[in-house]
Amino acid sequence: MDEIVSLCKRRGFIFPGSEVYGGLAGTWDYGPLGAMLKRNVEASFWQTFVDSRTDMYGVDATIIMNPKVWEASGHVATFADPLIEDTVNNKRHRLDHLLEDAGVDVKGLSLEQMQEIVTEKKMKSLDGNPLGEARMFNMMFSTHVGPVADDKSIAYLRPETAQGIFTNYKNIVDTIYPDLPFGIAQVGKAFRNEISPRDFVFRSREFNQMEIEYFVDPKDWESIFEKWVADFHSWLEEMGLPKDHTHDLEVPDEDRAHYSKRTIDIEFDYPVGRKELMGIAYRTDFDLMNIQRESGKNMMYRPKDGSEPLVPHVIEPSIGTERLIMAIMCSAYTDDGERVVLKLPEVLAPYKFCVSPLLKNKPELVAKAQEVFAELKKKYSFVAWDDSGNIGKRYAKQDEIGTPKCVVIDFETLEDDTVTVRHRDDASQERVKISEL
Ligand code: GAP
Repeated sequence: MDEIVSLCKRRGFIFPGSEVYGGLAGTWDYGPLGAMLKRNVEASFWQTFVDSRTDMYGVDATIIMNPKVWEASGHVATFADPLIEDTVNNKRHRLDHLLEDAGVDVKGLSLEQMQEIVTEKKMKSLDGNPLGEARMFNMMFSTHVGPVADDKSIAYLRPETAQGIFTNYKNIVDTIYPDLPFGIAQVGKAFRNEISPRDFVFRSREFNQMEIEYFVDPKDWESIFEKWVADFHSWLEEMGLPKDHTHDLEVPDEDRAHYSKRTIDIEFDYPVGRKELMGIAYRTDFDLMNIQRESGKNMMYRPKDGSEPLVPHVIEPSIGTERLIMAIMCSAYTDDGERVVLKLPEVLAPYKFCVSPLLKNKPELVAKAQEVFAELKKKYSFVAWDDSGNIGKRYAKQDEIGTPKCVVIDFETLEDDTVTVRHRDDASQERVKISEL
């Protein structure tokens, strides 16, 4: 993990947030390469699950929504993690993580049961001090809307993008009237005031989600649920995640989110352990019924064949961009002792080509290389130029950032218009005519 974090920083993929001021826990910034990778990942999600299908629609809703959204959804009451405080220095810890680190299986334990274990085992904080009373801590960030900061102006930064979809369900049915089943997707920021952010970008306080709410007739939910699990496995493979590194976890009743009747988490074997990459949840009609009750608006869908109107049920695949990027980087990273190579799928690589003149101090080579660079750049956009150091160093740098092909202009090029194309994964080289690049 340390090697990957270091590569991310060294090569401009991901930097600690606000680093110049000492950072801000749980926040990370994308550098130039990371911003390109993130864009490619999210574009692939959109292309696969929205643009290439006829039953999917996109929305782009606001981050700050009417606070009633979060009351109706149950987040104000229940979106909380167990917290316990060091009684000497008042540092706050996530209780289930403390217990897990002490070898306790916390699955299904209530707050009271966790507190009992702390008392029984006379557990101490990470700094060796006594621990206080455990309590639940709501993870939503709150703010105030408008110039008066009082209870009436309180609002939340969305902890999931899903509610921006549910609140627009009626708008989409009324304006587009899609056939059932249909889905709505959204990609965007989500915020959670995690008690203890950790493991690089895995548990951040600000992150991106790629979410789908797929509306179905309840009688069909089971087969559609299975299809979504299979579709996501295929896509994760396209993103370069080896099949044997992803695992389905049937989440037990006591660990499921308050809105879900069935959840499968797809876990990934990260270097820090097997952990949740994404979830697919059967949210039933929980959200639409809550909205109907709290807003007084009718959430019924009228099937076009004239059959009985119904409130659709929902299957929700949800994946965090950062957790996926971390899995992609871990899958792509290889070090055989001689070369560090980021074997990213071509579709994700920030640059598709790197163009360079063999020698920097030969104007005729530089001029020809610039010509080739301009051509490729026009055609593919994602083309790098590199004339720094020697050719070996340039290859090493491009290997580390995952550029699939390096195009080198040498003296032969000036005679026959061919270039050397050097391939990232096996370092093989071939001569190719410029016109055939
Ligand atoms: N709308 C459903 C929902 O939000 P979730 O399991 O709480 O469900 C979905 O979150 C996904 O969002 C997770 O599987 C994970 O990929 C990502 N995620 C959640 N919390 C995160 C965090 N603190 N940092 C990074 N990604 C996170």
